[in-house]
Amino acid sequence: MRIMKGLVLGAALAALAVPAAQARTVKVGVVLTFSGVNAEYGDQILRAMNLYMKEHPKAAGANKIELIKRDSKNPSGTVAKTEVQELITRDKVDMLAGFVFSPDAIASAPLATEAKVPMIVMNAGTAWITNLSPYIVRTSFSMWHAAYPMGSYAAKTLGCKTAVVGYTDYPPGKDSLEAFKKGFEGAGGKVIDEIPMGNPAQVPDFTPFLQRAKDEKPDCFYAFVPAGAHAAALVKTYGDLGLRAAGVKLIGPLDIIQDTKLQQMGKAASGMVVMGHYAADYDNPANKAFVKAWHRAYGAQSTPDFMAVAGWDGMAAIAHVVKTLDGKIDPDKAMKTLEGWKFDSPRGPIMIDPQTRDIVQNEHVEEVVEKGDRLHVKVLETIPQVKDPCKELKVGKCAP
Ligand code: PHB
Repeated sequence: MRIMKGLVLGAALAALAVPAAQARTVKVGVVLTFSGVNAEYGDQILRAMNLYMKEHPKAAGANKIELIKRDSKNPSGTVAKTEVQELITRDKVDMLAGFVFSPDAIASAPLATEAKVPMIVMNAGTAWITNLSPYIVRTSFSMWHAAYPMGSYAAKTLGCKTAVVGYTDYPPGKDSLEAFKKGFEGAGGKVIDEIPMGNPAQVPDFTPFLQRAKDEKPDCFYAFVPAGAHAAALVKTYGDLGLRAAGVKLIGPLDIIQDTKLQQMGKAASGMVVMGHYAADYDNPANKAFVKAWHRAYGAQSTPDFMAVAGWDGMAAIAHVVKTLDGKIDPDKAMKTLEGWKFDSPRGPIMIDPQTRDIVQNEHVEEVVEKGDRLHVKVLETIPQVKDPCKELKVGKCAP
């Protein structure tokens, strides 16, 4: 009995000696486009970040995550860089997140390095962005994830001997071109023309670009545009100019069938084949739950898309860091916590590659098919757990 009493007393004293976990507030600077032609991208990513915390209120333990939002406005990188500077020096953020456009991430990377602030890239896809700072982690994709395997699929399975590439003329567009060409020509195809198609800040008239492609009679027209209104206009022009009837298949990365724009593309989109890592139609339990929560929060007419899923997964990554470090964000420890992190994403299983800090994810060959009165994304093939081929192959700017 005396021994028992002693044990109980000892346990009570020990409990008193351990301070209760202290709830801390972690500040995250979120830099996204909230205005201009691409304003809805910022909304999609932010909605997903908020939804993740709403659905998983204990994900960061007892700690609080405060999101400090900034509008990167145009895709030039200059506004984003100024915002990041202020977030670091004035708001003293513990982490940075967001970055829709590659120039925004590219311009901000040196600041993350200098101030040692972990930076979670939630869209910007130029392959070599992750090489620009040891404090960058990417939860979206590299342009090579889709473009490189699409190249070999187009040559081997779609039977395209020739292709014309059209691309929005800035870093991810050039990267997508290079990746597609490497995959396509490596599998025996020939890229017969490369057409720059304007910039990401304005939606161009795609008519001259697509007419030029049509006149060259390739088997495939591979296009990268930065999703949104660009993608809607691209597909409409493809339909209007009768390229399919002329025997030219429209292919590309998933950006050209973004979920938020797909239904309005109409018949012109039917039959398109893309390589991608997310569609709201994916039939796995994590995605079913994600889409259901999205509809509950934002209405049945609203849909998540590939940008939203990167925000959801990115927020899960941030919460994981905050919980693991119990709200004390040491930048180097935060990076260690993220390297090799695995997560059951709505897109399927993902991991942060410990060597490159880039995402590892499944890629799918997907076809747009008509199903009832809506367009549906049908998965034809899956390539499991793809690491960024640019860094795997060590080519171009991904060479060490
Ligand atoms: C980018 O700027 O890296 C970017 C933007 C939109 C996309 C893909 C990539 O759909």
